[in-house]
Amino acid sequence: MPSFKLDGKTIPFEPGDSIIRAADRHGIEIPHYCWHAGLSVPANCRMCLVEILPAPGQRPLMLDILAWDAKAGAYKPDSKPKLQPACQMAAVDGMEVKADTSEHVKDARHAVQESLLLNHPVDCPICDQAGECKLQDYWLAYQHTQKRMRDEPVHKPKGVVFGPTIVYDAERCVMCTRCIRFMAEVAQDPVLDMRERGNLNEITVAPGRELDGKYTFMTEHVCPVGALTTIDFRFKARVWFLKSAKSICQGCATGCNAHLDYDPRNNRVYRYRPRDNEQVNKYWMCDDGMLSYHRAHEHRILDEMVSGRVTGHAAALEAIKKLFEGVPKESVAVVFSAQHSLEDNWALRELATVGLGTSALFWSGLGDGYEDAILIHKDKNPNTAGVKQLAPGARPFPELLKEIAAGRITHAIALGSETPTREPKDLATLQTLRALITLATTDGPLAEAAQVVLPVTSWAEASGTFVNAKGLRQLAEAAIRPLGSAKPAWEQLLRVALAMGLETSWTKLREIRAKLLVTDAPGAGEHAGTVSP
Ligand code: SF4
Ligand code: SF4
Ligand code: FES
Repeated sequence: MPSFKLDGKTIPFEPGDSIIRAADRHGIEIPHYCWHAGLSVPANCRMCLVEILPAPGQRPLMLDILAWDAKAGAYKPDSKPKLQPACQMAAVDGMEVKADTSEHVKDARHAVQESLLLNHPVDCPICDQAGECKLQDYWLAYQHTQKRMRDEPVHKPKGVVFGPTIVYDAERCVMCTRCIRFMAEVAQDPVLDMRERGNLNEITVAPGRELDGKYTFMTEHVCPVGALTTIDFRFKARVWFLKSAKSICQGCATGCNAHLDYDPRNNRVYRYRPRDNEQVNKYWMCDDGMLSYHRAHEHRILDEMVSGRVTGHAAALEAIKKLFEGVPKESVAVVFSAQHSLEDNWALRELATVGLGTSALFWSGLGDGYEDAILIHKDKNPNTAGVKQLAPGARPFPELLKEIAAGRITHAIALGSETPTREPKDLATLQTLRALITLATTDGPLAEAAQVVLPVTSWAEASGTFVNAKGLRQLAEAAIRPLGSAKPAWEQLLRVALAMGLETSWTKLREIRAKLLVTDAPGAGEHAGTVSP
């Protein structure tokens, strides 16, 4: 593999890599604003300047300058190496590059920072980006000086509503053009552009348009400073209080890798951020996915309920025992959930096939929706492929309705409350069951029709494995503590089995995972973001 030296370290690179890309692959950050691994390279911020040493026999590339001579009290002609943008310069085998070790580079970084902060309002105490802002980070690392300008800074528009999701502050903008390039190159909707010149530069929305569509949140995410903020997260939390779990978006079968940010002090989830994964979502997520973290708190079922009334756990289990006593196994169905993890569905399969001895297996989940060629999958469930792997013979939900209508199924245990449609006639059919037990996280038709509802944790409260549409198994870590009386579904199913007097083969999550690895999921995700096929 070809390689070059960066500050004396050997950096192997792939053909086509720029210096910054190759360094980034090796965990070395060359400071930058405009460069983003998933976007084109405008090389306009100049923060990434490096010194490339001439190859043996080559003339050094020099720049004529006027240098301040303190003794003489005047500027004098001088020269210095011409620095080059690491984001645009291709890595060349054997080249030598100086960054942190070059005094010229240090001066350049300092100068770029000072220039960017010349008219900046430095309103960090009320800025949502504070704590994760590149201007702050690089000031600390490369500038460290007070502002020298004493004039009134140039003022520009603040709090400009770009559309239903994004607010723009031109005074904080460093004009890196990442937002413009994201909309043009990834979202394929060139709705943003730059207007004016010099220190009057600002980002603007195309006339007659607003910044809308399916990928607006990503403009905020790529913005390296606090110039773009989302209406959803604006003024809600200070990022230094947030912790992060490596999660998997539950919004569709793409299974985008995400950071789920939560505040452990009030046990609330505050936002999603994309987690880079070249094989799944690269660096991106869609707006619906970014907003889907709200599901961790909205429409939740947090108590055991029998016939619509809140009861304790013991009363609910007693009711289940009575409802299922003496029922012939041919009349009992189980319903897997494409919304739940492999672990939860595995426990239900075990209960169905080993415990209850039924072969009436069905599966449910949300119905299909919008899709595109960028990221969004029409299957709005995160684990349809996982359910199909675990229970290949399970039939889709409409088949269950037919069996109930024909009187062949009279009792059912369902995981998850979602059904592909919310037709009143389907709910009416479900209500003809003599007994329906639903293990549910949120409200939905299967919870509504159930005699007994057991509250189960969401993906945000319990770790679980999900198989995306490409067949990749990915583990979502738990973030917050379980809400209300909710417990992981595999644990609730264990209690159901014990209440029914059935044998069980699991008591702990690690036993389920061990069995999944051996029998059902070669290479199943032991690690967050594992993507083995
Ligand atoms: S709004 Fe943010 S992403 Fe867009 S140009 Fe300004 S600093 Fe860059
Ligand atoms: S594409 Fe699907 S998985 Fe990815 S962020 Fe959007 S809803 Fe979530
Ligand atoms: S990262 Fe902006 S010029 Fe290279």
